[in-house]
Order: sequence, then C-alpha cells, then structure tokens
Amino acid sequence: SVVKPTRTSRFTLNIKTPNVGQSLLESLAGLDKTIERLRVLIQKPFQNPEVFLALGVKPPKGVVIYGPPGVGKTVLATALAKESGLNVISLYGPSVISKVVGESSKAISSVFRLARDTAPCIILIDQIETIANRRASHSQGSGEQAHSFDRVLSTLLTEMDGVDILSQSSSKEEDGKFSDSIIILATTSHPHHLDPAILRPGRLDQHIFIPAPSSSQRVSILSKKCSQMKLSRDCKDRIPIIGAQLEGFSGADIANLCQEAALAALREDIEAEEVRLKHFQKALDCCRGSLVGWVARHPGGT
Ligand SMILES: Nc1ncnc2c1ncn2[C@@H]1O[C@H](COP(=O)(O)OP(=O)(O)OP(=O)(O)O)[C@@H](O)[C@H]1O
Ligand SMILES: [Mg+2]
Repeated sequence: SVVKPTRTSRFTLNIKTPNVGQSLLESLAGLDKTIERLRVLIQKPFQNPEVFLALGVKPPKGVVIYGPPGVGKTVLATALAKESGLNVISLYGPSVISKVVGESSKAISSVFRLARDTAPCIILIDQIETIANRRASHSQGSGEQAHSFDRVLSTLLTEMDGVDILSQSSSKEEDGKFSDSIIILATTSHPHHLDPAILRPGRLDQHIFIPAPSSSQRVSILSKKCSQMKLSRDCKDRIPIIGAQLEGFSGADIANLCQEAALAALREDIEAEEVRLKHFQKALDCCRGSLVGWVARHPGGT
C-alpha cells in the first residue's frame, strides 16, 4: 500500500512506494546502460544479498550522478530510488540551506536520524553541491555565513561516517540482508564545486557521469517525446534526421523543442490535428541547445 509522503519544511519521506518509479523510468530514453549500472549499485544488493555477501561486497554508501544540466539526473535518481522499494528520504539541496545559523546542520542530522530509523533506506540529495560546497569557495559570504556552510558540510561528513561505524558494530549486519544500509544518492551539475572530502572512498565514492546526449541518444529521446504527440507522416520519417542535427541539445531542450513545435501547430490552427515538419522547423528557429558550449568544451563527451 502507498503511504502518503510526510512533508516537513526541508525534506520528504516516502515510505516504500515501489512501482511509482516505473513510469518515471519509462519517460527516459537513451540511458539504459546508466540505469543498469545504478541498479547494480542500489537495487541488486537488496534483491540478491547472498550474491553480494559471497563476494564480500556491501551496498555502496554513496553514489553521485553528475553531468551537465537537463540530461535527466534528477528524474533518473528519483525513479531508481522509488523503483528500489526501499524507503526514500528526499532532500533538495537549496532548500536545506537556511539563513539561520545552525538550522541547516540540524536538518541534516534529523534526516540521518530518520534514515537510521527507517533503514534500509535511500537518502536522495538533489543538487548536493549546494550543501557540500568546497570549504574555500564561499569566501564571498560573511565570516559567519562561511562558517555556517562549513558546519553543514562537516555535519554531513560526520553523519556519513557515522553510518559506517554503526553498521560495523551492529548485530543486524549479520542478518545477511543489509537491513541497516543507508545509501546516499546525490545529483549535481557542478561536481567541481563539491568538497573533495565528500568524494573520498567510503563516502560518495561511486561516480556516475551522464554526458550531453550523443546523436543516437538524441534520436531516442526525440522518438520518445514524439511518441506522445500526433505527428504527420513526413515528420515521423524525419525524426532520425532531426535528432541527429540537435547537437548541444539536452533531454530537457528536446522536450522543449517538441512543446514548441506543438504550440506552433496550434498557433497556426487551434484545431490542428497533427504536428508537421514545418512546425518543427519553426521551433528549431527559436530553440537553442543549452549544451552547445558544454559540448565544445568536452569533445568526445567527457
Ligand atoms: N534521457 C532523457 N530522456 C527523456 N527525457 C529527458 C532525458 N533527459 C532529460 N529529459 C527531460 O528533461 C527534463 C529535465 O530532466 P532533469 O530535471 O532530470 O535534468 P537534470 O539533469 O537533473 O538537470 P539539472 O542539472 O538542471 O538539475 C525531464 O523532465 C525530461 O523531460
Ligand atoms: Mg536536477
């Protein structure tokens, strides 16, 4: 049965809501390999604990999904966390940061307390760079603010290390099911802003990169988005060509392009029954790929 999320000001707890991840996952295209890698990390240890125990492997403590904006990091992390069937605590980085000194640290501590009470569980941290910023990089803030940021980071580090100490000493570890595991699943589009301490082994040590979509991935994403629209025949046939042309478009940009094409059709005829090639051409005239600069700086996609 689905329990409604408990809302507090700073985070959301979803008590075991399997299957809701499915439709979210199905909305993504071109990420199959990444999905498989993430499933091995955050789902398989709980589905087949004996296999992992036999090899002496534990579930990871922390996974960070990084890559440029709009490539599906948040959707993917949310979908996989939900699909796992574990309890999920969701944190949105920017909303954890409070102007009141000490409040953010308290919020982090209460999240971990809740996590220990509801383990095995996943703590989803979206835009983690906002709470795990490099110590030196907030020198622009006032002394007190910078100090407060440092406190948030050290609380996060201490809590993450605490998880390990607890699970080593606890008797539950012997139950062969990783029932006291807490996995942190974080996303960021600014990995270089993260404090190196948080990326060390035993913390967020699994790094999953999602680059700007390749030509074939763009075709898959465009096909998926178009499968929800009524397209004219000539337009359908051109999807592979249009998709390949969209260098520098993220998944979010492609979704936006489809939206603009549909709007162009409706502007022409409010009772339009299908989207035609010319509507895509109009949309292409006004939509730009937000990752053009990123692609230029990362030839080869890395
Ligand atoms: N591979 C994809 N397949 C289908 N849709 C995608 C894909 N990537 C992105 N999208 C679309 O882009 C939207 C934004 O994705 P999401 O918020 O997960 O991006 P993000 O990587 O978290 O970006 P940011 O770094 O800005 O937070 C999604 O709702 C989805 O419609
Ligand atoms: Mg995001």
